[in-house]
Amino acid sequence: MARPASAQSSDNSTFFPMLRYTNCLLYETGVKMALLTWSDKFSVGIPSVDDQHIVLFESLNDLHAAMMKGNAQSLTKTLLRNLVAYTRDHFKSEEAMMSAAHYPGFLAHRTKHIELTRQVEDYAARFERGEIMLSVHLLNFLRDWLTTHIQVEDHQYAPWMKEHGGR
Ligand SMILES: [Fe+2]
Ligand SMILES: [Fe+2]
Repeated sequence: MARPASAQSSDNSTFFPMLRYTNCLLYETGVKMALLTWSDKFSVGIPSVDDQHIVLFESLNDLHAAMMKGNAQSLTKTLLRNLVAYTRDHFKSEEAMMSAAHYPGFLAHRTKHIELTRQVEDYAARFERGEIMLSVHLLNFLRDWLTTHIQVEDHQYAPWMKEHGGR
């Protein structure tokens, strides 16, 4: 996956402690299939935010790779839980940044985060209860909500953040 220079030098496992564990599991299996590939079109121009988005991409790719390989439910459950946890952490971090910079679109953006979190948590809960299986359809849905949110709402705050101290 092509990464911006900022991503290469940062240690996302500090921000997302489970990342190192997750990646170890997948490297052990030797499977790393990309559902999502990072490119400049996703960049909001704020390195710390791009780094977190890349972690979310990787988290979704890990889940996709595990599903394609037919890994045990226990692993896919862990990966889905990680994705939910990363999503919550990222949204919290983004909201703190927007609030500190007095971003005018903060409340609308936070409402979108609440909706997205509810959707992904609902899928995760249904998966945990055995009501749904992981499928290409579900993974595509997760990919689409993530990329659409980044390219629409997250890109909207970028100019304000750059002017008001987002890094
Ligand atoms: Fe974001
Ligand atoms: Fe966002």
